[in-house]
Amino acid sequence: MSNALQLGVNIDHVATLRQARYTGMLESHNCEPSLLDAAEICERAGAAGITTHLRADRRHIQDGDVFRLRERIKTKLNLEMGNTPEILEIALRVKPEDVCLVPENRREVTTEGGLDAAGQFDALVPTVRRLKMAGIRVSLFIEPDARQIDAAVALGVPCIELHTGAFANSQGEPHQRELARIREAAAYAHGLGLRVNAGHGINYVNIAEIREVPYLAELNIGHTIVSRAIFVGLEAAVKELIAAMRG
Ligand code: PXP
Repeated sequence: MSNALQLGVNIDHVATLRQARYTGMLESHNCEPSLLDAAEICERAGAAGITTHLRADRRHIQDGDVFRLRERIKTKLNLEMGNTPEILEIALRVKPEDVCLVPENRREVTTEGGLDAAGQFDALVPTVRRLKMAGIRVSLFIEPDARQIDAAVALGVPCIELHTGAFANSQGEPHQRELARIREAAAYAHGLGLRVNAGHGINYVNIAEIREVPYLAELNIGHTIVSRAIFVGLEAAVKELIAAMRG
């Protein structure tokens, strides 16, 4: 593992828990659990950044959360978003350090599959341009696939996030094949000058395989950390994962 491998904690599911009780109520800092406290604890525990996905259906993160996080976060904010005019305008007002463009489908439980950067090339061009002009580092959440990486390069983004879902959800030989795809994609993208991040479905067990993938700069991890936090607390959960990243 590269010593530089960093952790971005996705805190969406802290908001999922809050929304399970407070959906439809006035946005308030006092609705528990506090997203701002969660972000602060993650930073204190060693996270290099905080990641949130403002979905079109606002199922967990709300608009106000993103603005408040922007003010409070001391590391960096990585905003995940679908390529829609509404969310783009919000991103341009929030000005996170990073934006990761993801596919979004209203009925999915979580982000399924990578963004089809090659197929949606024309629709992505103006969005990438506006985000870049605002000084935001743009990343694309894509499958570990050379065609998608080539599209990312052609779009002029400096960064990609490799979707590790197929790897995380497989076992045995298919799992090893997916790991090999991630390794090849990371090396290919790195060779083309891209910063390479990875995320989705990474947990305390499969991190042992992911940490050995060369050229990865940052992992964005959410569900497993929030799940573990129920038993050991958020600070310990983040520290345990960072320790696992370091082997
Ligand atoms: N990266 C991206 C782009 C995602 O959409 C998600 C899920 O919201 C994650 C990382 C984190 O995935 P997980 O919650 O499975 O760790």
